[in-house]
Amino acid sequence: MPVQQEVRDAVAVLTLSRPKALNAMSVEMLNDLDTALREADRDPNVGAIVLTGDGEKAFCAGADIGHMLEATAQEARTFAELGHAVADLIEGLDTPVVAAVNGFALGGGCELALACDVRVASDNARFGQPEVSIGVLPGWGGTQRLARATSIGFAKEMILTGRAVKADEALSFGLVTHVYPQDELLDRAVELAASIARGPAWAVGAAKHLCNLALGGDSTVPFEREKDTFALAFTTADQREGMSAFFEKRAPEFKRGGDAS
Ligand code: CAA
Repeated sequence: MPVQQEVRDAVAVLTLSRPKALNAMSVEMLNDLDTALREADRDPNVGAIVLTGDGEKAFCAGADIGHMLEATAQEARTFAELGHAVADLIEGLDTPVVAAVNGFALGGGCELALACDVRVASDNARFGQPEVSIGVLPGWGGTQRLARATSIGFAKEMILTGRAVKADEALSFGLVTHVYPQDELLDRAVELAASIARGPAWAVGAAKHLCNLALGGDSTVPFEREKDTFALAFTTADQREGMSAFFEKRAPEFKRGGDAS
């Protein structure tokens, strides 16, 4: 199964598991994660959720580039809608979700972590929105949620350069709240989630929803703009070049001064 599930101390641990592709999110994984999140939220024995990745290298290396390589704008929008729906689900569940980021959290992987209520990371974690490096842009909420979690300047630097930041830098900018050695990460994340799960479920859920309002502003309009703009990227030659270059393991050659395919 692309998303494994177990319950520990009233905490549902959901593990993204597609190790050969560094847990990159396929449509099947997104659907599976959606189902697992809803099941955990409904389970009366579960008071919190931990989301992590299989192995020691990646939490999730992003949306599946293979799925997008030859996608039309319409297909890209459908993929963006699905990723957004899962991120919105995480953010909107009554049950709090802790991201235990155990390695690369890139692109859609960083965006899923950003939708979680709390993020903790292993010392080898790397966060990034590298979409511009492959000719596109964040499409699962990153253009809004990264700035909300950190600052607009830090978010723009990450998104416009595509640079991945190490765990200590992520900590210093508030992207994560704790960094642990890799071999302690999951236990510490479960401990944190269990301490939430021991609380009064209604009050905890209500507090989560109110905290979501803390930064103000309705995300509906920017999220729709993000989906549209992500889709528009798939009408450019830079998207094909960026994604082909990734699979050909070479540097992309983007067009100077604009793009039209
Ligand atoms: N989609 C599909 N396959 C991926 C993938 C992805 N996002 N990330 C990694 N893989 C695959 C690689 O193709 C490779 O497969 P093969 O063994 O068959 O060649 C395997 O995972 C291992 O990856 P690498 O050989 O590249 O491993 P590395 O250690 O050299 O590099 C990495 C690791 C830096 C994470 C690199 O894999 C990488 O840059 N991955 C892509 C990251 C990325 O661009 N993510 C954003 C995707 S777009 C997106 O997410 C849009 C959005 O907003 C929704």
